[in-house]
Formats: sequence, structure tokens, C-alpha cells
Amino acid sequence: MYLTKKEEKTLEGEYGETLRKAIEILVALGDIYGADSLIPVKSAQIAGVSYKTIGDAGLEWISDLKGKARIPAILNPAGMDMMRWQDMGIEPEFAGKQQEIITAYENLGIRTKCTCTPYYLEGFDAGYGDHLAWSESSAVCYANSVIGARTNREGGPSALSAALVGKTANYGYHLDEMREPVMAVTVDIDLSGADYGALGYVAGRVIGNRVPIFYLKGKPSGDELKSLGAALAASGAVALYHVEGVTPEAIRSKFKRPDENLTIEREQILEVYESETECKEEQETDIITVGCPHCSPGELKDIARLLAGKNVRKEMWICTSREVAERYPDLVRDIEKSGAKIVCDTCMVVSPATNNYRCMMVNSGKALAYVPSMCGVASRYGSIEQCVREAVQDES
Ligand code: F3S
Repeated sequence: MYLTKKEEKTLEGEYGETLRKAIEILVALGDIYGADSLIPVKSAQIAGVSYKTIGDAGLEWISDLKGKARIPAILNPAGMDMMRWQDMGIEPEFAGKQQEIITAYENLGIRTKCTCTPYYLEGFDAGYGDHLAWSESSAVCYANSVIGARTNREGGPSALSAALVGKTANYGYHLDEMREPVMAVTVDIDLSGADYGALGYVAGRVIGNRVPIFYLKGKPSGDELKSLGAALAASGAVALYHVEGVTPEAIRSKFKRPDENLTIEREQILEVYESETECKEEQETDIITVGCPHCSPGELKDIARLLAGKNVRKEMWICTSREVAERYPDLVRDIEKSGAKIVCDTCMVVSPATNNYRCMMVNSGKALAYVPSMCGVASRYGSIEQCVREAVQDES
């Protein structure tokens, strides 16, 4: 792999041990995947933030690093709402460790905003063709597919290395040839809202880590594409998908339809809603969570409308980024009037606060896939309307 003089000196340790370690990780990945060089990236999004997932070993690793991010860099959700962790029932010991992790990242010049939807944040925009080093799988899928930017599914350490060096290795989804669809997915039925998360949940299992192009009947919204990508990335390992006539690269590149085709039928979508696979019949839903990925302003608006004049009778979390919540205080107030909680900086999967529930209702294909294994909690699927009905115990 070609390195500039400065990169070679960095690798030799001339600019300190942290930068040496960081570039060593990038070069090692580049060598494994056949990169020709390092390329500048516009921003980094770093996973490995929740104390629940990285533990003491992760905290120690980050704390030992010395240096400053050279590009805008942001964090994935932490294990708790950094301001209201006590309301979530988080233990002080966990909160202390979580705060230490955030401080360690802050010392490295990373912005301590914790979200899987960095694209909603002001000053953190990504555009078509921008090279990024993002690591949360739904954010990666959104950046590649909906924005048309270019990022691999970075691990936490490689995204942090990219933030410190300002570059990443030029391989995978940074290259034109890796972005071509290799599989067609035909869906000849009307879909809306959570149907897209269900579609991603079903299709991702078959697609695995390939690049699909969807041929859909309608034109999904940005929020629906977000749900589709998050589920594709969780039940499969999709980092980039196209939708004919909708996503920017499909519009510009006019891809040839791949020979391999997968058709998804209505029954397969319905099965996701009906299966309640994990929640046993005798298990009543005891928590409802929405906002996986973190809610957009539009989603908050829909939830506020659905909850207007109602009171929730079960625990209900609405997960979003602190920035979006602070930008829309009226929506937050309206939602919380019902008793539902706006939860920032964290989510139902990476926080230990959901571990003690028995059955969680979600409107996200990604949460449906992850909650049982990562929280030890059974999960069931519903549209946002069904989630609200479950929370307020409205039988109609
Ligand atoms: Fe985001 Fe947590 Fe879902 S990180 S995509 S809300 S699992």
C-alpha cells in the first residue's frame, strides 16, 4: 500500500505512540483488503461507547490513548441517558464507568454526542460521494444508501483511528466497483411505515453482506429507508443497498438489473408482525420502545400526534439524539405529557436498563433482531400505531 512520507513517519512513531497505533490499524486493514492508499475522510462515527458492550478492557484501551481527532468525530449511543440515568434505574457504579468512557473520548477531541443518526445533527452533514469512517451499522447503511456517501462498516477502533489520523484505507465501499448491486429484490406489494423494517428483517437474512437493489411498488420516505437499512444491516450484514428510482446512486448510475433475484411476498412481511416468536403467549409486553435507529423530528411528530390526549399504562421509551430532542422541546413536552419517556444518548439495545423486562414491543426490524440476544428480553413487532395502542392499552 502506498504511504506518503508523512504517513510513513507516523507509522514509525515520529508523531507519538497513539498516532502510530492508529495508523498501524488502518494500514493493517488496508493490507488485508488490498487498499492502494489511505484517503481523507470527512467525519468519523465511533461505536464502542456503552460500558455494557465494551466493559473495563475497552475503557482502559481508550483511556491510554493520547491525541486529538483531526476531523469531526461523534459517538454511538452510550449505555444510559447521560442526564437522566437515575430515572432509568441505572446503577451509580455503571454510571461512573460510563462517564469515564465519555471523558476518555472527550480528551481525544471526540464530540461527546451519542447517536446512531449523526446525519440529523447540524454541522455533521454528509453529502453524495463523501468518504466517511462510520461504524454503527444502520448509520453506515443510511450514509451509503440514502445519502450516497462512502463508508465501510468500521469497527470502533478503526473508526477512532480514522478520527485521529483523518484518513481511512481505500477499499470496500469506497470503491465504485464494490457499490454495484449483485442481487435484485422484487417487492410487488404496497408497503408503509414499519413494513419496511419487516422487509429488511426478512430480506437481510437471505442477502447477507451483498449489495442488493430493491424494485419496489412505491417510493419510501427517508424514515422508511432508515428502517429498511437498519434491519438489513442487523438480520444480514448489508452496508449498502439501492432502491431503483429512489436512492441517489441508483438514479445516477442506472444499474443493470442483476440476474439473481429474490422476491418477497406479503405473507413474509405479515409473519414478522404475527410471529411474536420470542414473546411466549403468557408473557405480556412490559415495555414498548421506539427509536431504533434514533427518531427523526418527523417520527417524533408522528408519535406526539398518536399520543395526544392519552396516558401510557406501560413503560414506553422514545429514543432519539439529544440534539433532536433539544431542537423540538414542544414535541418532547407533548410526548412526555402522556407518561412516555424521551430517552437520549442511548437505546433499548445498548443500555442495561432494559435487561430486566420480559417482553419488549418494538417497531424496528433491527431491535427485533438484537433485543433477544443483547438484552436477554423477548421481542415482538408492531407498527408505531400498534406500539402506541399497546402502551396506552387501547383495545380499539
Ligand atoms: Fe441505534 Fe441502538 Fe438501534 S444504536 S440503530 S437505536 S440498536
